Amino acid sequence: MAGVELGRAVRGEFLLYPDMAFLNHGSFGAVPRVVLAAQDEWRRRVERQPVRFLVRELEPALRAAAGALGTFLGVAGEDLVFVDNVTMAANTVLRSLRMGPGDEVVFTSHGYGAVNKAVRFACDWCGATAVEARVPFPIDGDDAVVEAVAEVLTERTRLVVVDHVTSATALVLPVARIASACRARGVPVFVDGAHGPGMLDVDIAALGVDYYTGNCHKWLFAAKGTGFLWVAPQRQAAVHPLVVSWGYGESFTKAFDWPGTKDFSPWLALTAALQFYQRMGGAALRTRNNALAAEAATMLEEAWGVAPAAPRTMNAAMVTIALPIAGEVSKALGDRVHDTLADDYGVEVPIIWFAERLWLRISVQAYNERGDYERLREVGAAGIEGLRD
Ligand SMILES: Cc1ncc(COP(=O)(O)O)c(C=O)c1O
Repeated sequence: MAGVELGRAVRGEFLLYPDMAFLNHGSFGAVPRVVLAAQDEWRRRVERQPVRFLVRELEPALRAAAGALGTFLGVAGEDLVFVDNVTMAANTVLRSLRMGPGDEVVFTSHGYGAVNKAVRFACDWCGATAVEARVPFPIDGDDAVVEAVAEVLTERTRLVVVDHVTSATALVLPVARIASACRARGVPVFVDGAHGPGMLDVDIAALGVDYYTGNCHKWLFAAKGTGFLWVAPQRQAAVHPLVVSWGYGESFTKAFDWPGTKDFSPWLALTAALQFYQRMGGAALRTRNNALAAEAATMLEEAWGVAPAAPRTMNAAMVTIALPIAGEVSKALGDRVHDTLADDYGVEVPIIWFAERLWLRISVQAYNERGDYERLREVGAAGIEGLRD
């Protein structure tokens, strides 16, 4: 790869403890020092003249940041609004639906727990039904996902909620194919792209979906609390923020741009995050991270004697691998394995309880290198089995 040297060479750009193998970028991201500094500078700018900033300068600055993000994601900035996170965006859209008894919302068995609960809540309070599309895992390809969703669509399906990259199972789902199957039935699609921007080459317009939300604080290096919601223009009039404020009745963006007084610095520092992302390589960073994730996963699977849970074509910068631990397992055992790996071995990696089994999910971001995954391999299958007690 041309350009910057990554791995240990850029570790100092982050505040992460230098002696730790940090293999969980996926959960909460890690913010570079330059982005924290930019955020701090925005805070200072507000405090020098709060009235002028919040009344006159904030909205154009937010719209400029949305414009830059829109360019990155292949859509117009005016169709994008900032929210704190994907959980908030999902609740926003779900509660904007006007549903009644008999209506259905489809979610998948790989969906993020909090979002699936938001689906249940939105259905429960109006008598609608949350319908689960059961996607297998291990899985042998995209078809199984498209079929699982298509199978549960009915005349009463009001929305399909689907992940771009799943959290527990780290699968890149065939969103465009799902959207096409849904469009044929007149069903709108909401994409939970919490891990999309920065990990995948996201072109929202090309997906043919109705709603797309993402977290810039995961793979785009933004400050925590930088989520966004894109809504297809024809659906915007029906979408209202969870907190209704001065912008009600004005326009889609005005309704979201002022949710009341708050710290806007994460959203405003997004341009600094986008610049850092490009400095790390942009598209080349994605390619490098995805290749290293595949290489590290194969190395661990071979060392542990476990089969891949999915074809590599369904993974990007995260891979979920079966934990080499035999016999009876439980979530509590997984928590113990996690804590010991973190505290005794200096390896921060999520241990996941999914489909009644324990899995381990690796992430690859700019600051990671092969040695981080070798540290995990060195614990050994026997070593992991030994953590049972
Ligand atoms: C697929 C998916 N959706 C939603 C979320 C929630 O993100 P947040 O806590 O920023 O709302 C996550 C977080 O890991 C996720 O992986």
